[in-house]
Amino acid sequence: MANNPGRLVCLCNHVTAKEILDILRSGATSTIEVQQFTLAGTGCTRCVREIDALVENYKATAKKDPQLRINFKY
Ligand code: FES
Repeated sequence: MANNPGRLVCLCNHVTAKEILDILRSGATSTIEVQQFTLAGTGCTRCVREIDALVENYKATAKKDPQLRINFKY
């Protein structure tokens, strides 16, 4: 994944990787919660796999070291 926070993940609903990360940092813990708060992945669903990857990557990073969440690369 490119390290570009402004990168659009969901083209249908214009949701960036940064917006998804912000939701995860705010406490969302699943793709469904990301979808509920951002609408990402609720159109054509093409981006759901990428949202899944962002969620899993975030969870793995946060589990290793909570301080890394601040420097999470997305
Ligand atoms: S690109 Fe995300 S729902 Fe279509």
